Amino acid sequence: MSHDIGIDLGTANTVVFVRDRGVVVNEPSVVAIYNKTRKVRAVGLEAKKMLGRTPGNITALRPMKDGVIADFEVTEAMLRYFINKVCKNPRFVPPRVVIAVPSGITEVERRAVKESAIHAGAREVLLLQEPMAAAIGVGLPIDEPIANMIVDIGGGTTEIAIISLSGIVFTKSLRVGGDQMDLSIANYLKKNYNLLIGERMSEDIKIAIGSANPLEKELSLDVKGRDTISGLPRKVTISSVEIREALQETISSIVEVVRQALDQCPPELAADLVDRGIVLAGGGSMIRHLDRKLSEETHLPVIVAEDPLRAVANGTGAVLQNLSFWLKEEY
Ligand SMILES: Nc1ncnc2c1ncn2[C@@H]1O[C@H](COP(=O)(O)OP(=O)(O)O)[C@@H](O)[C@H]1O
Ligand SMILES: [Mg+2]
Repeated sequence: MSHDIGIDLGTANTVVFVRDRGVVVNEPSVVAIYNKTRKVRAVGLEAKKMLGRTPGNITALRPMKDGVIADFEVTEAMLRYFINKVCKNPRFVPPRVVIAVPSGITEVERRAVKESAIHAGAREVLLLQEPMAAAIGVGLPIDEPIANMIVDIGGGTTEIAIISLSGIVFTKSLRVGGDQMDLSIANYLKKNYNLLIGERMSEDIKIAIGSANPLEKELSLDVKGRDTISGLPRKVTISSVEIREALQETISSIVEVVRQALDQCPPELAADLVDRGIVLAGGGSMIRHLDRKLSEETHLPVIVAEDPLRAVANGTGAVLQNLSFWLKEEY
């Protein structure tokens, strides 16, 4: 027996889909290593808890952080961990693996991912561009001669693609996503409240009260960090209005590339989009009212995928169902 698997190798989260079973693993793309030996101490959830809290001999890092592979060895260790996690049984034949990777990675990096997967125990590897996987995962009719537009806002990247006849007609990758939003929140608090907060706290704030357009009922949140002047721990209460201001620049840059994509899209396909609109996927698309904001700015219908964090993994799963077809060509 063999369990073919699909992997969404995201900049923030790795999601693993096993054929006939669905999504079985969903963990942060984080690896903690010992500095001296570079041996792996922890991967995934356990490693994410260590971010910002490691003693001097351990580093917790995100090997895919900006949509490029920062460290091949660590990426390989991470892939191995995820593949082994779902293929523990030695009686199983090595799996065939479909991996969705950011479309901005280089040919050298693509080869490295493939080799890493083979080292990690894959029998055969198919790489799929992330926006293509997302479009398949949300159920867009990508094989028809009409425009399908997907905007996948991940941690380190935003990927935009217009797909028709199973091919990518237009693609654009921006190295801005949820991480940049977190950073803007941290900078805002430092500048306006003299409060230093960590990466994880910024993310928590974004998820709890982040928005792209005014909310019917604005929210507030208590935030804890360290005062830059007294050096002591302190708590402040911030509102969703302030966080929206902090996020504004990042969101504008995402809006801007979406507009560029529309501007560069062939006219027949642009015409299709008037009715078909844009589908958003990826965790970053869950910022409150981002769909509304994008719709206002583009005058197109915009909807958020049903399960934005799993869209790409579900797409790799759909490809697994028909792998021999997909293996003939690379997308
Ligand atoms: N409810 C939410 N609201 C806003 N952002 C979110 C939410 N849930 C997750 N995110 C953000 O989504 C990003 C991760 O999305 P994901 O699609 O998994 O990224 P990647 O594909 O790069 O791994 C992170 O920046 C995370 O903070
Ligand atoms: Mg992703």
